[in-house]
Amino acid sequence: MTESHYHSLLPALSDFLARQIGLHFPRERWPDLLRGLHGTARELHFKNVPDYIDRLLSQPLNKQQIEILARHLTIGETYFFREPQVFEALQHHVLPALIEARQQSTRQLRVWSAGCSTGEEAYSLAILLHRMIPDIAEWNITVLGTDINPQALEKAAAGIYGEWSFRGAPPWLREKYFMNAGKNLHEIIPSIRKMVTFAYLNLADDTYPSLASNTSAMDIVFCRNVMMYFEPGLARQVVDRLYQALLENGWLVVSPSEISQSSFERFVPIYLPGAILHRKSLIPQKTRQSATSTPTETVAAIRPAAPKAMAKPKTADTVEKIDVHAMLLKARAQANRGELPTARELCERAVETDRLNPVGHFLLGAILQEMGRNSEAAISHKRALYLDPGFVLAHFALGNIYRDQRKPHVAAKHFENALLILEKHREDDLLPESEGLTAGRLMEIIRSGMRKEDKAA
Ligand SMILES: C[S@@+](CC[C@H](N)C(=O)[O-])C[C@H]1O[C@@H](n2cnc3c(N)ncnc32)[C@H](O)[C@@H]1O
Repeated sequence: MTESHYHSLLPALSDFLARQIGLHFPRERWPDLLRGLHGTARELHFKNVPDYIDRLLSQPLNKQQIEILARHLTIGETYFFREPQVFEALQHHVLPALIEARQQSTRQLRVWSAGCSTGEEAYSLAILLHRMIPDIAEWNITVLGTDINPQALEKAAAGIYGEWSFRGAPPWLREKYFMNAGKNLHEIIPSIRKMVTFAYLNLADDTYPSLASNTSAMDIVFCRNVMMYFEPGLARQVVDRLYQALLENGWLVVSPSEISQSSFERFVPIYLPGAILHRKSLIPQKTRQSATSTPTETVAAIRPAAPKAMAKPKTADTVEKIDVHAMLLKARAQANRGELPTARELCERAVETDRLNPVGHFLLGAILQEMGRNSEAAISHKRALYLDPGFVLAHFALGNIYRDQRKPHVAAKHFENALLILEKHREDDLLPESEGLTAGRLMEIIRSGMRKEDKAA
């Protein structure tokens, strides 16, 4: 392969990388691309880069090849409390209200550092929560760090850092939260280490949010200094999936000017000193703007209204409903963590307390399904449907159960009912109790499942 032929392949190669890993290499970044390809070719023992490019373009990549490429083509640069204004914004404006609200209800908080590299960002979040919640041992805290680079994740899990990771960090950080681990090395203390879980996740894949990867129902998602390498279409898709991964009123934190502001249409921008945070709102932007005189909100206006109602319940009935709501939230979180027997027990208690709550029956059905108890699950889903005939996810779940039980006609009836309900929704409507699934996406899933069944018949 001649030098010019090799350069003529770069546009095709950039397209290929955008599709496979989501990384964007416009012409001005070709020197970075070539540097990364040299490193990868060397690591994989190719004689030269052109041979490697040939191979790359001629067959699909497996997971390990993607990981090696991504490691050479991305920069893992990170450090503790990077961009301190963002952490100050969390400490002073976001977390106090959130902690107060949860103190009264579930005592649960879920944060995710997506593209966490060697873990400094995830540990910074854990440390901040540890400092702000005095009775943290009584809480159920999830701090998830994910990345596409397994070597970075290994280092994150080990939790041992050199001086460079502490540049700009406040002096108390090393003193209070790290132990000496040899010459100029510092190891995170066990109480913080055990708050954080690290896992592989390629943000370009359509695999999140999901219960399985524990990437749903997040309160705060950090995805900083990651999307700037993505092709703009992919960056928008990633923002969309992160939106779905957040709870209502949850927060997305990206780096300033990392990607175009138009990608955040579904969020409310909150301007805080030195940081712009994006808040998930289920009210479309246009409605919000016509309803308010200014396009953005102030911090005072965004504090959750929930704690007031929770702090002073008016009647026994209200107390009971709030308890059931809290129990169901907790059961869902336990199920998300795979603690199915505990989740089932709690959900059964919630259902006993409020038998007329369709969500309780549905959640119990979903947990029983996860436990492989399909017949019992079907009874719970039917109860949910009896109480709320428009409960689309209950139809979907029953369709799946009957398909697995080889009762195709009954399954088809439930899938068709689900489609009829979904047709009344807008495509991007989030479905209740789905942890971020849209009506359009569920229609696609059901239709493609029904096509497969038709072919198999
Ligand atoms: C510069 S680091 C950012 C670390 C941290 N978020 C921060 O701001 O300090 C970028 C990280 O994004 C990761 N990354 C790049 N593409 C990714 C993808 N498709 N999926 C997941 N992580 C990715 C890289 O492996 C790298 O560790």
